[in-house]
Order: sequence, then structure tokens, then C-alpha cells
Amino acid sequence: MPFARSNGELCANAVPLTAIATAAGTPTYVYSWPDMRKRCRRLASAFRDVEHRICYAVKANSNLAVLARFAAHGTGFDIVSGGELERVLLAGGDPARVVFSGVGKTAADIDFAIKCGIDCLNVESAGELDRIEARAALLSRRVRIAIRVNPNVDAGTHPHIATGLEGSKFGVPPAEARALYRRAARAEHLEIAGIGCHIGSQIVDVAPYARALKRLLALVDALAEDGIALGHVDIGGGFGIAQGAQGKGLDPRALGRMVAAALAARPGPQPTLLLEPGRLLVANAGVLLTRVEYLKPGPSPRHAGFAVVDAGMNDLLRPALYGAKHPVRAVAPRGQRRWWHVVGPVCESADQLAGTRPLAIEAGSLLAVGDAGAYGFTMSSNYNGRPRAAEVLVDADRFAIARRRETTADLWRLERTV
Ligand code: LLP
Repeated sequence: MPFARSNGELCANAVPLTAIATAAGTPTYVYSWPDMRKRCRRLASAFRDVEHRICYAVKANSNLAVLARFAAHGTGFDIVSGGELERVLLAGGDPARVVFSGVGKTAADIDFAIKCGIDCLNVESAGELDRIEARAALLSRRVRIAIRVNPNVDAGTHPHIATGLEGSKFGVPPAEARALYRRAARAEHLEIAGIGCHIGSQIVDVAPYARALKRLLALVDALAEDGIALGHVDIGGGFGIAQGAQGKGLDPRALGRMVAAALAARPGPQPTLLLEPGRLLVANAGVLLTRVEYLKPGPSPRHAGFAVVDAGMNDLLRPALYGAKHPVRAVAPRGQRRWWHVVGPVCESADQLAGTRPLAIEAGSLLAVGDAGAYGFTMSSNYNGRPRAAEVLVDADRFAIARRRETTADLWRLERTV
């Protein structure tokens, strides 16, 4: 447990969260690198029977300090923009281990990716294939591509984060993918590297992956008949975590066993497996540290009161956007536990970090909002004129500020009165 109590106080590894709040202020995201590394190793071990590469999905948490640790660990990266690619390079990531996903790659994104020599562009439409071919020709380069297939499987997750169903904007149907591969095989400036899919996020069952992989492998076989060989199969990310103390996450070992069996059942050379996990590697390794500004009574004694904290939906959007339930713990519990509705300062009724929770707190208490290492800071904004939170990286008994808190001057740095 990266966030456990020592002498009654919550710590990040060996560092008391109160010490971090004193040094960095609140709200602050706190990440445990040892926990991220552990999760990465655990995933690799679940796939040890399969030749594979983990490409961490940068969108989950793109702080340079986090990316630098993953890069030094030898992890690859999955990116969705030129901006994410620049971050990976700044952090010392190896472009030859980068795959590029996303439906809307601009010509500038594509040029940058080609010039950097990334491993593979995951193509999501016929128009994109045309554009990549044209840009590669202009730059006199040969570019490695994979087609992202939409396997039409229901991942059983929140509609906002399901991406593998027919009718979603992502990927292309299998029949169209086959036609695109035939075209790519004839194109002088394209090299076919593999095939991919990504069916959604926070998926907790192996079955949707099994269905998607089956469809991908059927296409691999059909392409082999066309004389097209694929070097890798990318099953995307989406591996779900246990949210809070209860609830089940995806069992990576069960996923690993399923994939190993599906690949071993096939004759001929095995493709390399690519994985694009984001949340699984970082979500549980992070908390959002926030301070209670006010305890405000509810409308009647029957109602829970409001704990108004200094982090809002601009800092952590997931509860407002997806109804996500993040665990909330008092860093140093005080007095009796009572039910509190944990809300932020933003002027929207959706600005609730958590429904009612039993907490032993007083005004000024620190709270740790859990499972916040993924899609927390990266989805934050400046709404309501709020500077974005600081980010702190913890490694064993040390911590460092990995992103300073924004100042108000940062908010209008790019503006002028015209
Ligand atoms: N690969 C691709 C192509 C993706 O689009 C995504 C996530 C991933 C990998 C990583 O998925 P993960 O392993 O993290 O589930 N903002 C939402 C999640 C959106 C995920 C978007 N794509 C949330 O806060 O739940």
C-alpha cells in the first residue's frame, strides 16, 4: 500500500502527507513512483509467457518526472498528440518505443512523429492513411503503420470511455481494415508493422479482450492469405483498477493467460504483443491532497453537512464527468466520524469530489482523495480562475515538487487587453 497509516497519519511510502502539504501547499497531487514501478513489473510478469512491450498511455499522467521514471525503467509510450511526444522526448523516452494513437492527427503531428522516428502510427481512418502516406513521401521516409480496428465489442464500461463499439469514432471495421492493409502494402512510403485496437477504459473483465483479440487474429489470418504479415498485435489499454477498498479490478494474470493461450494456439511465428496501459500503472499510485476550508451544516440534522475543500472539479473532473467514486480519507483523523458531503469551491452543483463519506475531520483537516494518479491532473483546468495544483513525486523516504503550483500570473500569461 503506497498510502498507509503510520502512527495514525497517512503517509506516501515513508513520507507523511502532512509534510508534503506543509512544503507544497494544497491542493497537491502526490504520486508514488515505487508503486507505479511495482504495478509495471506486475503487469510485465503477468505477460512473461508472451513477447511483449508495455507502452504507457501518457494521457493518464504526463508529468515529466513520471515519464522520466518510466523511460529509465525501459517502458515504451502510447501518445495521442505532438505535445505528448515532446513530453516523452524531454523525459528521455526512446522514440523507437513509441506508438501514436488518436483519430485526429494533424499534418504537423504526423511530420513531427516521422522526423522523431517513432515506432508506429496507429491509423484510424482511410483519410489518415492517405495523409500519412503523403507526408512520408514529402519527407522521403518510410513510415511504420498499424491499423486500429474497431472490433465491435461491448467493454461493459461507462459510455464516455467505451471505444470499441460499432458506431464509435475510433478505429475502422475489420472489412475496411483489410482493404486499407492491401492499399498500404502497395504504398512505397508505408511499412506495415502491426494491428491494434483499444476497446475502452476501466474494463474489469477479460471476456471483452478475448472477443476483441479473436477478431483481430481472424483479420491477421485473412491478411496472411493476402500475403501481408504483421509483426505486432496491440490490444490497447483499458485495464480496470479496483476503485477504493471494495470493488474488483481486472486481473492482469488472467488477461496474460488468455492472451498467451490465444497466441499459442496459432501456428507460425508469434507476433509481439503491445499493451497500452494508463490507469492500471498510475491511478492507485496517486492521491489528491486537499484541505478542508469550511464545515458547513446540512439543511437539517437529517442531512449530512458539507465539507468544503480547496480542490474542485477543475482539479479532479472525474466525479463530475463520470460519476466516479474516489475514496476519501482523513490524513490525520480528529474527533468523531460523521457523514460529510465532500464538495469543492467551484460555482457548479456538479462540483462534488465525493458523495457523503464518514470522516473524522475539522476545519483545516487534510484529506487524501484516492485513485487520483490517472486522469486527475491531466484533465484539470483553470475554470473559475483557479491556478492548477502542484504535483509531487515520492520515492521511498524522499519527495520532490515535480510541478510547481501555478500562480495567478500564469493564468493570463498568454493574454493581452486588446
Ligand atoms: N490507448 C488508447 C488508444 C486510449 O485511447 C487510452 C485511453 C489508453 C490506451 C489508456 O487507457 P487506460 O489503460 O488508461 O484505461 N478520462 C477517462 C479515461 C479516458 C481514456 C481514454 N483513452 C477517465 O478518467 O476515466
